[in-house]
Amino acid sequence: MKFIHVSDLHLLPEGEELWGIDPFARLEACLGDIARFHGDAAFVVISGDLTEKGEIHAYSRLKALLSDFPIETHVMLGNHDDRAHFQSVFTEVPSDGKGFVQSSITRGGSRFLFLDTLKGPPSSAGLYCDDRKAWLKAEFAAGGNLPTYLFMHHPPFGIAHDLMDLIMLHDGEDFLDLLHGHPVRHIFFGHAHRPISGQIRGVSFSAPPSLVHQLPLVSGSVPTIYSDEPAMYAVVHVSTDKIVVHMDAFLNRRRAQMGVDDDRGPWF
Ligand SMILES: [Fe+2]
Repeated sequence: MKFIHVSDLHLLPEGEELWGIDPFARLEACLGDIARFHGDAAFVVISGDLTEKGEIHAYSRLKALLSDFPIETHVMLGNHDDRAHFQSVFTEVPSDGKGFVQSSITRGGSRFLFLDTLKGPPSSAGLYCDDRKAWLKAEFAAGGNLPTYLFMHHPPFGIAHDLMDLIMLHDGEDFLDLLHGHPVRHIFFGHAHRPISGQIRGVSFSAPPSLVHQLPLVSGSVPTIYSDEPAMYAVVHVSTDKIVVHMDAFLNRRRAQMGVDDDRGPWF
């Protein structure tokens, strides 16, 4: 099964730019690339920071754009989002019965859980409160032994980044304890604005960069807090014994400095 992971759109109302970037144009280019080259993907997940400031008009633009997008898409919340504003526009997106934007799907014999880690202003950190934990426990119970993949905006552990580790999921250790004994195969997250992969307590994880500004790996390596580095989306292949995550810098994909008929020789 193949699916797509996109994160951190930071959309703004029409006519507004974010530090020289039009986030809506970035998203249009991203979705166009996905539709062109990955039309066979089972679904797309956008793991939060859908908007920069949580404006209703930004959500309306996103909803309008997705209405013409041919692949099933699941949208989630991040710390830049406004839950009430989101829910006023995306009225069809399910909540967990407690008002949080959490849902699950089963595809190809696997479970995919979309978590809501939004804590709310003034904090940029994430929160997974008791009500949300209760939903997750019920989902684990409902899923039984089916392979399970988690999507969440905030990583529930430090990622060895001085700024980002200040605003990770609050009480990540508690969250990770919840996963113990359940068939969680991989955690997909956003928030970091960097391409990241690794493993925590035996569970693999990955995160794509933002579609807009990025966070330099080393603070101070550029004079600004954020950096201009390639936007990417992740193309994920999962099977019984394997998970492969590709990061594609779709805006930086250009032909090589070679003729189209140049012989590459015996080596690739
Ligand atoms: Fe973000």
